[in-house]
Amino acid sequence: MSQPFIDLLLTRRSVKAPMIAEPGPTADQLATILKVAARVPDHKKLVPWRFILFEGEARARFGEVLAEACANEEKQPPSAGRLEMERTRLTRAPTVVAVISRVTPHPAAPEWEQVLSCGAACMNLCLAANALGFGTCWLTEWYSFSAGVRRALGLADNERIAGFIYIGTAKERQDDRERPDMAGITTRWPAT
Ligand SMILES: Cc1cc2nc3c(=O)[nH]c(=O)nc-3n(C[C@H](O)[C@H](O)[C@H](O)COP(=O)(O)O)c2cc1C
Repeated sequence: MSQPFIDLLLTRRSVKAPMIAEPGPTADQLATILKVAARVPDHKKLVPWRFILFEGEARARFGEVLAEACANEEKQPPSAGRLEMERTRLTRAPTVVAVISRVTPHPAAPEWEQVLSCGAACMNLCLAANALGFGTCWLTEWYSFSAGVRRALGLADNERIAGFIYIGTAKERQDDRERPDMAGITTRWPAT
């Protein structure tokens, strides 16, 4: 048994986005992280996910997209403060990866399986980054569900945003939170 790997899994915690700082992964580290993300169970090898990377000044440029979508889609006109928050949203972390779920109709691999595979890719991505010493946070927030953001990212009709994964160096680690009572979520079949 690889105890360090089990310890990593047992102590894993997300890092709040504002607590994620420079440095982010190097190009080589990011390539490794993405390779691990793409190494998940994938029924019928449909590759039902893809990645969009935001680094450097692209994060602030994408912030303009977020501000515009926010202004267009909020019921009430957003305040100047809110728009500024949207402009700087992605700059919370040095590297942000949008994970895109893409479903290809297939008789043997229903949509449900393809979406599950994408969730697995997100988690592998986080764990690979964590194993390299980085903090991560998997967020959808409002913009994963925005029509304007979908358009700006060029998503096809069969694609959805599984989340934006913020990656960088944790300034602060959160205390653990309460975890599920394992007996409450684990049964044996047949029930006695
Ligand atoms: C698909 C998905 C979307 C999420 N989106 C958000 C979000 O928008 N805002 C948020 O505060 N947490 C979100 N979370 C939860 C965090 O990623 C994180 O799991 C949570 O803060 C608990 O921390 P832990 O991962 O250390 O247990 C999301 C989780 C998943 C799986």
